[in-house]
Amino acid sequence: RGRPTYKIASIPADGIGPEVVEAGITVLKCLTKALYTFNLEFEHFNWSSNLYLKTGKYIPDGGLERLKEFDAILFGAVGAPNVPDHISLWGLRLAICQPFQQYANVRPTKIFKGTQSPLRNCNPGDLNWVIVRENSEGEYAGQGGRSHIGQLWEVATEVAIFTRHAVERLIRFAFETARSRPRKLLTVVTKSNAQRNGMVLWDEVAELVAKDFPDVTYDKMLVDAMTVRMTLKPETLDTIVASNLHADILSDLAAALAGSIGIAPTSNLDPTRKNPSMFEPIHGSAFDITGKGIANPVATFWTAAEMLAWLGEEDASNTLMECVEQVCEKGVKTVDLGGNATTIQVTEAVCEEIERRL
Ligand code: NAI
Ligand code: MG
Repeated sequence: RGRPTYKIASIPADGIGPEVVEAGITVLKCLTKALYTFNLEFEHFNWSSNLYLKTGKYIPDGGLERLKEFDAILFGAVGAPNVPDHISLWGLRLAICQPFQQYANVRPTKIFKGTQSPLRNCNPGDLNWVIVRENSEGEYAGQGGRSHIGQLWEVATEVAIFTRHAVERLIRFAFETARSRPRKLLTVVTKSNAQRNGMVLWDEVAELVAKDFPDVTYDKMLVDAMTVRMTLKPETLDTIVASNLHADILSDLAAALAGSIGIAPTSNLDPTRKNPSMFEPIHGSAFDITGKGIANPVATFWTAAEMLAWLGEEDASNTLMECVEQVCEKGVKTVDLGGNATTIQVTEAVCEEIERRL
């Protein structure tokens, strides 16, 4: 058979997005050249806050239709100081996730060798999680409104939507994720004491779906207590599933506990594979370090590895991760991890490691 070619749409967007996406593509090209088992073809899209400020749109007319032709999307970060965050988020990121039904947001976290968790006594191996976040509805469904704007009696509502359909498909996906990992352990996070409708539905659906996964151990946590468990007993957790809002918050905590927000990736998956899935680092556009050349590219490398695994290139994905971890262990790290390497130096070190191995 010939070497397969995967078409990747790259959307670097704002802030450090272009810096880390460029680093990610460099490493991916180095990997495909060394492996010679498949091709990646990149096409770049300049969809960003700059484009929005010029044209009034993040995604030009017909843009989503064009994206559909790709096998995957590699995304940087969106958000600029001169555009309100809810405009940029809804204008670009959610404008792709929602129509493409990327309902499963998958966020792995672990402590890399050579890096330090802020938790005393927490070493590599003690914290190795996958958070599965509902990515299509919940608290971020976009339902609600504002009336009497600017008046003292102004009202705003933010309505959380939970449908049995979406809750079930997501919890099923989470059980499958848990099953695919050695510990086969799933924690279902809700807030079903205070949020007595949608979150109780979650609990009930989890109970039902669990029957189809007798080999997976599952337990339930309330989200507030979950922050305590993540901090004090990280080794008791493996796969975690939660609503859009709860998992958004928990996954930032997870990234911090693992040592830096500059490490962790996010996959926005359409598990039906009808639409391309989108892969991005968990961090945002980081205005404070944009243009300084010190952004940690590791989150984007891990993102690239997750993308390869989704495309079916598991070996390439594992090789890339081993090389990235090796470089961290050697001490070639950016400032956020306590090192002094630049984005480019880390990128070059990973490429050298790939070339050395293959
Ligand atoms: P942020 O993740 O951009 O930055 C938080 C802190 O982490 C900053 O001090 C930053 O310098 C540091 N940091 C982030 N990524 C890093 C990296 N790769 N290497 C080293 N340090 C890194 O979050 P913040 O400040 O809340 O948001 C900034 C903008 O990004 C906002 O407009 C926000 O809406 C947007 N954002 C976009 C996301 C996305 O596109 N998916 C996700 C999160 C935020
Ligand atoms: Mg977030």
